Amino acid sequence: MLVDPDYKGNRWPVEDFLESGRADWAAQREWLASLGMPTTGARALDFGCGVGRVTFAIADSFDSVVGVDIAPSMLRTATWLDTTGGRCRFVQNGAADLSAVDEYAPFDLVHSVIALQHVPRQFIAGYIAEFVRLLRPGGVLTFQLPERPQLSVRGLAFRYLSPKLTGFVQQRFLGYPAPMRMSGMRADRVREVLHAAGATLLATRRDNGYAGYWHSNRYVAMKTGGSP
Ligand SMILES: C[S@@+](CC[C@H](N)C(=O)[O-])C[C@H]1O[C@@H](n2cnc3c(N)ncnc32)[C@H](O)[C@@H]1O
Repeated sequence: MLVDPDYKGNRWPVEDFLESGRADWAAQREWLASLGMPTTGARALDFGCGVGRVTFAIADSFDSVVGVDIAPSMLRTATWLDTTGGRCRFVQNGAADLSAVDEYAPFDLVHSVIALQHVPRQFIAGYIAEFVRLLRPGGVLTFQLPERPQLSVRGLAFRYLSPKLTGFVQQRFLGYPAPMRMSGMRADRVREVLHAAGATLLATRRDNGYAGYWHSNRYVAMKTGGSP
C-alpha cells in the first residue's frame, strides 16, 4: 500500500495514513498552482486509488472523485473509510482500458500516485493514453512514475535479480506483506506517449518520496486535443 519503515507491521494509525494523503495532494496542488493550473473543479479521477488515501483529499477540492483500483479488497476498505458523504465513488477495473469509468467522464483532473509503478510495464502506455482520453479538453493530468532503479544496493537488486528473488527478499528481509513489483518508463518516452494521446507535457519533477531506490518523476500534462 504505502511502505514506511516507521510503520511496519500494521502499526500505521488510520488518521496518520490519511494525513499523508492530504499532505501529498496539498503538495501537488501547490505545484499545479505554481504552474498556473486549476486546483479545483467538478470531476476528478484517482487511478490506483487503493483505500482512498489521496482520493479523499482530492474530494476536498473537487465536487466528485472516482477512485479506480484493480483490487476489490482495497475498494471495500475505501468505501468503509469514506466520510465524504457520497462525493467519492469507487470502481473496480482489471481491464487494460478504463472504459469502466466512461460514464463519469469527462474529468477535469486525472491523478495517480504510486500505482502505475505496480502495473506490468506493457500496460503503462495504454493507461496513460486512457487518462488523456477521459479528460475534457484543457483538463489536467498529474501522475507519478519511476524511471529507472538507482545505483544503490536495492536499486541494483531490482535491476538484476529475478522478480521471484526480489519478492522473496522483500518479504523475508524487508518485512513487506507481499512481493512488490516495480515498473517504470523513461521520461522521454512518457512525453511521446502523452503527445501521441493528445496531451502536452507541461512540467516534470523528481519525486523520490515513495520510491527511495528508484528515480521517480511526477508529471503534469494538459489535454490539448481530441475528445470527449
Ligand atoms: C501502493 S498502492 C497506492 C494507492 C494510492 N494511490 C495511494 O497513494 O495511497 C497501489 C495501488 O495500485 C493498485 N493497482 C495496481 N495495478 C492496478 C491496475 N492495473 N489498475 C488499477 N489499480 C491498480 C493496487 O491495487 C493498489 O491499490
